[in-house]
Order: sequence, then C-alpha cells, then structure tokens
Amino acid sequence: MKGITLKIDGEEVKAREGMTVLKAAQNAHIRIPTLCYHKKLEPYGGCRLCMVEVESRGSAPRLVVSCLYPAQNNIIVRTRSPKVDRVRKTVLELLLAHAPNSFELKELGKEYGADESRTGQEPSFCIHCGLCVRYCAEVKKKDAIGFVDRGIHKEIGFVPEIASKECGKCKECFPLCPTEALQAAYIFVEALAFPGQGH
Ligand code: SF4
Ligand code: FES
Repeated sequence: MKGITLKIDGEEVKAREGMTVLKAAQNAHIRIPTLCYHKKLEPYGGCRLCMVEVESRGSAPRLVVSCLYPAQNNIIVRTRSPKVDRVRKTVLELLLAHAPNSFELKELGKEYGADESRTGQEPSFCIHCGLCVRYCAEVKKKDAIGFVDRGIHKEIGFVPEIASKECGKCKECFPLCPTEALQAAYIFVEALAFPGQGH
C-alpha cells in the first residue's frame, strides 16, 4: 500500500493509503477521543466525538469524522480547535443527558466543559454507540444482542434463545459499554427470560 504523509497538530505523520485519519493519529500517539470506535470493528461513525478539522489543498478547514475519513497526502489535521471543541462539548452534553452516571462520559465532559444539565432529557442510559451489538455480530458472530425499535424509543435487547446459551460464558461486550447500560439490561433479561442459566 502507498505511503502518504499528512500533518496532524503540526506534526508530520506517515500513514498508508486507505488508513483513516483516526488510525494515522493513533499510530503517531496523537489522541483523538472516541466512543463508538473499536479496533476490531468496522468503523461506525455514530457518536461524532472523534470530529477533527481538516484542510486540504488550500481549501477552508472543515469538520470531518476522523474514524471514517481517509488519511490523504498533504492534508492538515487539527485534533483541537475552538470549532472542534464546541462540537465535542455539544455531543457530550447530549450523551450525558442520556447517561449522567457514566464515568467515561463525565471525565470527557469535564475535559470539554460540558454542562450535563443543559438538555434536560430523561436518561435512557444507553447512548446507542452500538459497540455491544457490533462486537457480538462482527467478532463473536453470535447476534445475541441487537437494537429494537427506532428513534427515541431505540433500545438494546438480548435475544433470549441465543443469550441464554452464549452470554453467560462470554460477556466480552460488558467492558466495552461506556455507560454500563448493557450490564443492567443483561441482568434484567437474565432474571426474566433465562433465570440462573447465564452463569
Ligand atoms: S448498551 Fe452500552 S455498548 Fe451497547 S449500545 Fe448502549 S451504550 Fe453502547
Ligand atoms: S468514534 Fe468516530 S464517530 Fe464515534
């Protein structure tokens, strides 16, 4: 694969064609915050926390989703800027309204000055990052968990027939959840649908 060079936060970074900006930054130990990204999963672009500013061929800087955006020769990337920080703050305020007790979100919220009380939404605990659903499908090939319903009613749900056989011995998705909503949902489903079989 062809080698390319881009600039991230003023530093010259070598990457390969086909790599995302996020991957190029991670390889150069430059931090971009993420929530729905996982190195074993296909990029998803769901949370928008990894937004960065990109300038190419003299064009005006624009915001792109770094976990999806391809690294290109000679582009200039800024992982922090007033615009980037504003977007991350808004994203975090929305997510904190859903999951106000999440340690990970609270820490990020502090970093970006997010005010969790601003949106006044009812907490739903799951922030729909999809990590659990995608990990179960893509890595474990089990589909024991999925999204049910749409829009504001969207929730995760375990498939009892599969979960009762597979989840008790696996639980690899639990530590991926940024809000712990997953464990709560699992305990609930286990108690109702397959009591005592999950262990
Ligand atoms: S339960 Fe957790 S890991 Fe699964 S989609 Fe919701 S926030 Fe993400
Ligand atoms: S980490 Fe890129 S959109 Fe979530």
